[in-house]
Amino acid sequence: MLEIIYKIWPQFRELPEEKVIRWYKTYDNQTTIDNEKYFALHTSSLVPTSMIVDVELFHDQIEKYRNQFSQWGINHVNFPRYGIPLTNLTGSLKEENDPSRMPLDEHFMYHQDKHIITDNDVRIHTEICNLSSLDPINPIKPYLIRSSILRWDTMGHFKPHIDVGLPAPNLRLWGTTNPNMCLKIGGKIIRDFEPGRIYIIDTSKIHEGWATDDNVYQFFIGCSIESYDTLINLSQ
Ligand SMILES: [Fe+2]
Repeated sequence: MLEIIYKIWPQFRELPEEKVIRWYKTYDNQTTIDNEKYFALHTSSLVPTSMIVDVELFHDQIEKYRNQFSQWGINHVNFPRYGIPLTNLTGSLKEENDPSRMPLDEHFMYHQDKHIITDNDVRIHTEICNLSSLDPINPIKPYLIRSSILRWDTMGHFKPHIDVGLPAPNLRLWGTTNPNMCLKIGGKIIRDFEPGRIYIIDTSKIHEGWATDDNVYQFFIGCSIESYDTLINLSQ
């Protein structure tokens, strides 16, 4: 089992085995959604919802927080990737070692010891969540787990990865304010998305993304599996 984990996260070899095993057990103990239900929701890699953020209003409102975005994690700092939390562990934008400002595997490596956290543990809304431009996502706000707003400039990207192993312990949504970005999911490049629209994204498939312009904001939203019926109703 450890060898499989090290294949996906080779950096975990640096950690005590006991910590890696505890991490695996914590993840494995989460309640999950049946694959049949998962695929009934994820009928394609990117399923549009009826939730649409007004991009102009969002840009106006997020501008005030420009200096409160921080570099996304400590790896690949040569790429312009910044984030600000929609949810974290305290609700403060000044939270130390905020898991919503870095990859969660990095948070696990450097900032978790006794207590292992999963996306489902990161639920306290920050003031960013209350921006009126985000009112369109009100139906899913009760279910929000670890979620952030990302801002990428040209060359900002995520390398190929998966976020959820099936059966899925959480559900993921995504959207962008700028059409000048690319997503590749399950080997297929996807360009036909509408700025501002929130999509249900299948992150159980290998996916990557990159920005071809500056100031590309992305809605990087996690929901607990209790959001399932709501998401079915919002999907189009
Ligand atoms: Fe991802």
